[in-house]
Amino acid sequence: MEMTLEKILQGQGFGTRRQCRDLVWDGAVEIGGRVCENPAERISTDGLVFTVDGKAWQYREHLYLMMHKPEGYECSHEPQHHASVFALVPWQFLNRNLQCVGRLDQDTTGLLLLSDDGQFIHRYTSPKKHVPKVYRIALAEPVTDAQVSALESGVQLHQEKNISRALSCGRLGTDCLEMTIDEGRYHQVKRMVAAAGNRVVGLHRSTIGGLSLPEDLEAGQWRHLSAEDLQKLAGLPASQD
Ligand code: URA
Repeated sequence: MEMTLEKILQGQGFGTRRQCRDLVWDGAVEIGGRVCENPAERISTDGLVFTVDGKAWQYREHLYLMMHKPEGYECSHEPQHHASVFALVPWQFLNRNLQCVGRLDQDTTGLLLLSDDGQFIHRYTSPKKHVPKVYRIALAEPVTDAQVSALESGVQLHQEKNISRALSCGRLGTDCLEMTIDEGRYHQVKRMVAAAGNRVVGLHRSTIGGLSLPEDLEAGQWRHLSAEDLQKLAGLPASQD
């Protein structure tokens, strides 16, 4: 697809049309080592890499990110008591209306997806889509057989019509569980564990769909999802090429 440079810069989050024009007129934008001087120049977005003030950016129609959410961050653009996860990504992404794909509590760590693609966000947040999510849970008290079977057979949460059931629930230790759920109700894991008679003291999401948090992604770091990550997320086998 071809677009004017100023429109490309605006769409990639570099500011208003006016601000993007100024960037070009200031000589801040280069493509393939050439300083671009004309904001109205038409440029192909296919495989486009450009630099702004010497920093390279790849053109992306949409943003699909994974983050290792650290403790003490809120999944909100208007955090109440803690920092926002949006403070951890480049400001240009915020101009693109980047959203969390489902929220984690401020004290929950682990795999968080972010995107500016409404269809994608719906696909991975709608309870009707039944995307499995795996949580590692640290408990206040040693877990009992009765608690594991209650979580597996289903518990009634306050003000919910249907019972909430774990797809699977296994012990990782005397006071640690790994549980898979495929809904995503408000505080679901904590409420399910409370309804089963225990209390969550630590919560970490390790997997969404078929995508697991990479071991080398440190708390607070993020990266763009690769085509392979997107396939894993959707539960599709990785392509052979
Ligand atoms: N369930 C919870 O209770 N909290 C989270 O952050 C995620 C799932």
